[in-house]
Amino acid sequence: MAGRIPQHFIDDILDRVDIVEVIDRRVSLKKTGRNYSACCPFHNEKTPSFSVNPDKQFFYCFGCGAGGNSIGFIMDYENLDFPAAVESLASVAGLEVPREASNSVEQRQRKSESQGLYDTLAWAAKHFQLQLRQHSNKAQAIDYLKNRGLSGEVARDFGIGYAPPGWDHLLNALALGEQRPRQIKQLETCGMLVKKDNGDFYDRFRERIIFPIRDNRGRVIAFGGRVLNDDKPKYLNSPETPVFSKQRELYGLFEARKANRQLDYILMVEGYMDVVSLVQFGITNAVATLGTASSIVHLEKIFRHSSKLVVCFDGDAAGKKAATRLLETALPAMTDGREICFLFLPDGEDPDTYVRQHGKIAFGAQVDNATPLEVLLIETASEGIKLNSDAGKAKLSQRALPLIQQLPHGVFKQLMLRKLASITGADIHLLASQEATISAKKSQSAAEAISSSPRPAAKATDKDARPADTQVTIGLEKTPMVWAIALLLHYPQLADQHSLPSCIDQFNSEEAKLLRLLMSHIQTQRQTVTTSQLLGYWHGTAESGALNHCASRHKTPENIAVAEQEFVDILSSIERQFARHQRSQLVAALMKKPLSALSDDEKNTLKSVNSSRAKKID
Ligand code: UTP
Ligand code: MN
Repeated sequence: MAGRIPQHFIDDILDRVDIVEVIDRRVSLKKTGRNYSACCPFHNEKTPSFSVNPDKQFFYCFGCGAGGNSIGFIMDYENLDFPAAVESLASVAGLEVPREASNSVEQRQRKSESQGLYDTLAWAAKHFQLQLRQHSNKAQAIDYLKNRGLSGEVARDFGIGYAPPGWDHLLNALALGEQRPRQIKQLETCGMLVKKDNGDFYDRFRERIIFPIRDNRGRVIAFGGRVLNDDKPKYLNSPETPVFSKQRELYGLFEARKANRQLDYILMVEGYMDVVSLVQFGITNAVATLGTASSIVHLEKIFRHSSKLVVCFDGDAAGKKAATRLLETALPAMTDGREICFLFLPDGEDPDTYVRQHGKIAFGAQVDNATPLEVLLIETASEGIKLNSDAGKAKLSQRALPLIQQLPHGVFKQLMLRKLASITGADIHLLASQEATISAKKSQSAAEAISSSPRPAAKATDKDARPADTQVTIGLEKTPMVWAIALLLHYPQLADQHSLPSCIDQFNSEEAKLLRLLMSHIQTQRQTVTTSQLLGYWHGTAESGALNHCASRHKTPENIAVAEQEFVDILSSIERQFARHQRSQLVAALMKKPLSALSDDEKNTLKSVNSSRAKKID
């Protein structure tokens, strides 16, 4: 195997080639202000949302979130792996690519570690499938699947398996050789084995139907397991692992892409069984989130594969609520050309029961009748309002404008304003200017407020099964941490002079994790890195989308002095926020204690709290 390409050469190449030329040779670019733009080559669109920044040498698509440096562009555009993309750029620049004698030990180790996890997961998936055919209890599982009407063919295509009863089934299936300790470790890392207090392990999945969850490339990255009876939890999912994050993955997406050359639309449903039942009835474009609400990451992922999404909800109150929530998540992602419809099934039905009872055609009719996002937006905003009075109309506009404001600039937003104008009879220019005011106010206050407060670390135990309803994902909003990440990406030298406050470790949000990761990466580099090198470093990784997004969505200051001041302000506001949080935790704890158990210090602390709720001290 050829050795590693030395980092200095990669930096050198990025220095020599101009990303504008690299891209322009493949996609014709237009100059728009400082940047260049085009219709994005990575998704279907009619108005350009693909932008190339010549100063910082990176590209970003506001539509689908694709982004990176020149090497990343070639990788994605020509479907090449990293070394091949470097080769391709080097040959145009007339350079020979040097190779190091062999891969660095560290790199080889990292690669083989995640490869080890994928291998382990693939092994486990095979093993579960085999149990469905061989285990002495297999009848229990097969009967269950048959009762639910699942064909052997669909079970095979989705790799469905069976985890037999017992606490150490997987452990016993491992070979006894010297590999065993390493394999056990890997099974633990990918969430298949749980460690007991005494150091022994037991199987996470026991006596369940097993649904393997696959990534974009078809690799098994996690499992969902359903009980065969009425035990709780009904579904158990793998915990978060180095290769699996619930907030990003969609069950069935790989299979849907495999079954369809082109996806005219993607159907989003709630459960594993919904996905496989629909396939059984010839509806092969369904995906499901994994027990969490759908995040913006899910939506962006879907829109990379189709410009239309139909989301299925139960017809009950909970379904309505989930739909409103999705509507709000989706608004910032609604660039022109994208479409979302909301399908409300009759009360008490889910896609699985509906399609079994009424068949494919009836289900298709439901899809055709689904409510478009623009209709739901107005419906939601006018709930409980009488539209036959002027006051009612004004109220509608007051509720709808903040929603419309969240749409990206474009024709769709314009049309929504027009629609609101025609319903309320208000002048469209008035509405547009009010919308602009909301927008300006928002970006101002976002820079000031800290929104992500410290959270206790999530516990990845069996109990994490059902709605970890907290969405921890980088939103489109310019929160202080997002802003800090953006500043660091544009001015990496900030990391030389400043460090994150130590309390940052107490924040458990995705933003905080990303900020820590970025800071420590920059600080461990021997030389100062550039924006483009940073984005390149994470290209194609789980962090890449969020980083590209932070680098591009918000306009960063043009000069480092301003950036530095803002950065310092954010760091101290994070510290202040943490101190406030800790203090209120402490006070809450003290208030629970009887007065006699308080030390003098503690009494003083309570005294100093100027609150009517505080206990009276002497
Ligand atoms: P539902 O409770 O709606 O079940 O969960 P379902 O999909 O109709 O399941 P069946 O038909 O009874 O088999 C929907 C989804 O929520 C997640 C799973 O992803 C499930 O597919 N879920 C549900 C959990 O993660 N844990 C649970 O305990 C229940
Ligand atoms: Mn169901």
